[in-house]
Amino acid sequence: MKWRLHGIVEPFTGLLLNAYHMSKLSKWRQQTKVTGYNDWYQGRWDYSRRINLYEAVSKQENLKDSPIDYFEFGVCGGHSFKWWLEHNTNSSSKFYGFDTFEGLPEDFGPFSKGTMAVALESLNITDPRANFYKGLFQDTLIPFLESYQNGKKKLIHMDADLFSATIFSLSQLYRFLNDGDIILFDEFAVPKHEFMAFKIFTESFYVNYEVIGAANNYLFVAVKIKK
Ligand SMILES: C[S@@+](CC[C@H](N)C(=O)[O-])C[C@H]1O[C@@H](n2cnc3c(N)ncnc32)[C@H](O)[C@@H]1O
Repeated sequence: MKWRLHGIVEPFTGLLLNAYHMSKLSKWRQQTKVTGYNDWYQGRWDYSRRINLYEAVSKQENLKDSPIDYFEFGVCGGHSFKWWLEHNTNSSSKFYGFDTFEGLPEDFGPFSKGTMAVALESLNITDPRANFYKGLFQDTLIPFLESYQNGKKKLIHMDADLFSATIFSLSQLYRFLNDGDIILFDEFAVPKHEFMAFKIFTESFYVNYEVIGAANNYLFVAVKIKK
């Protein structure tokens, strides 16, 4: 500290952190069994493959008609939210969507703060099972959880891109997690963001899980909580 080490190291910290977590991700992938759908290896990335994962998880876990509580962190234009809403027919299911609806609160790679802003009203979702919470997760999630009735199987969809948003949400949800709950990640293979949050969360909270699906070279991953 005396020698102002940060002056030398700081310009390289982003690269170093990325390389460190990239190598952890590579090791994790090699050592972790995927018990369900997995399309590894694909020569090129295709974002639409996330639908293959949704379909596989829905079928494997019998989610079409079951009562679920669906949480989505990062709703944006509502594409994934609408998919799950349309593919679960149980009238007692609930769908909770969290977003600033004013875009990313921080820069994320090439996406600068404020991108992905979509007005909540423009989603045009009329299903009475859907509820939205506008604002930072850091402001909306704790008050929401104070009155949340934790009973149904949870499907938690992490699609906020950012490390901060992902680690915050997972840490708050930790005490509500039950055996069999599912967590979907939409940018799992981004080393310094969702993967870093997942690794720190599972290792710090001693979370046991099974990987039940992966698509698009692990960009999309589904894990099931084991208790
Ligand atoms: C990739 S988009 C979500 C895409 C969406 N699931 C879909 O399929 O269309 C990421 C969203 O996360 C939201 N977000 C990221 N961090 C957040 C935070 N801390 N609080 C609230 N919203 C956040 C952004 O506003 C953005 O709309």
